[in-house]
Amino acid sequence: MARKILVTGGAGFIGSNFVHYLVNNTDDIVTVLDKFTYAGNAASLSGLPESRVSVVRGDICDAQLVDELVAQSDVVVHYAAESHNDNSLHDPKPFLDTNIIGTYTLLEAVRRHDRRYHHISTDEVYGDLELDDPERFTEHTPYNPSSPYSSTKAGSDLLVRAWVRSFGVQATLSNCSNNYGPRQHVEKFIPRQITNILVGERPKLYGAGLNVRDWIHADDHSSAVLRIVEAGRMGETYLIGADGEKNNKDVLEMILAGMGQPIDAYDHVVDRPGHDLRYAIDSTKLRTELGWQPSFPDFEQGLAATIEWYRDNESWWQPQKAHTEAKYKEQGQ
Ligand code: NAD
Ligand code: DAU
Repeated sequence: MARKILVTGGAGFIGSNFVHYLVNNTDDIVTVLDKFTYAGNAASLSGLPESRVSVVRGDICDAQLVDELVAQSDVVVHYAAESHNDNSLHDPKPFLDTNIIGTYTLLEAVRRHDRRYHHISTDEVYGDLELDDPERFTEHTPYNPSSPYSSTKAGSDLLVRAWVRSFGVQATLSNCSNNYGPRQHVEKFIPRQITNILVGERPKLYGAGLNVRDWIHADDHSSAVLRIVEAGRMGETYLIGADGEKNNKDVLEMILAGMGQPIDAYDHVVDRPGHDLRYAIDSTKLRTELGWQPSFPDFEQGLAATIEWYRDNESWWQPQKAHTEAKYKEQGQ
């Protein structure tokens, strides 16, 4: 029988990717709960069959609405969040509301209705690594978040662990590295640089650009989450990563080269305060225990396809662009 899956934040970048993934790979019936903040985009769900996907506009902090939707679902997969580090440095309050209170509200509802819950989180909860550290993050790395964003995500993870231990909530958690792919908001690094080039602005690199991120295609994140939802052990955390470490300068040069620009045609701008140096995921547990493998191991190929997507889908990103850049300009970035 088809499962009923509630996907919070399903109009955002990774949540919408997961909804597409479910429609294409399962017979699940999906309800999206999304507040449609600046980061939610109805166009990210357009074209999906109405018989499979319904969308509810609402806040995960709204306990009554959350209770009703959780009661009607078999599984809850929780993506909704304030997700951007730079925003969290200028206005942390929405991060506390959505990431902490929103997660608490969902946990209380899944506890009341005894529903299966999967919690989406980030590798940033572990802080950062030195460039030459031979170790990568594992499920045993101590939490050490740096920013208001990552500290609220860490707080939400700890709430889930407490609700598992204290109340027996049937939950799994995953912490994933940096995602790229279609439908990512233009405030984020890769889409910002691609769309800057498309509108004739120079790309912007924070500091010297030596910071390393561990890139994974959003489709691979979705396949890993579905595998954990179906086969993960209750109470367990799984790290999701595809061995995609690259520094920002190298990624930017790949974008410039891939778009036919000179590879030095960008500006260095003021660095992000407290900027994490390096993230790196060891996903051995997910691969050995659940047999998961990434399907997009070639970053350069995935990046080329992502560039094409932004070229072909200007109507999706154009409405966000001017406002996003005006905000960055105010901040000297
Ligand atoms: P996003 O900002 O693109 O999307 C977030 C979505 O949540 C939006 O549709 C927004 O409208 C919705 N939302 C925000 N507040 C809400 C609220 N109070 N109630 C209901 N909906 C609300 O974010 P993303 O990059 O797709 O990230 C999704 C999740 O994945 C987050 O939990 C994030 O921490 C996690 N994550 C992201 C990455 C990454 O590289 N982007 C990596 C690992 C984990
Ligand atoms: O690691 C997972 C995390 O990845 C997720 O939890 C977050 O939700 C997601 O936003 C992402 O966080 P980052 O801060 O790593 O991503 P961002 O795209 O903001 O920046 C990536 C790197 O690029 C980072 O080192 C900062 C740098 N950067 C960013 C922007 C926007 C630039 O050099 N120039 C830019 O214009």
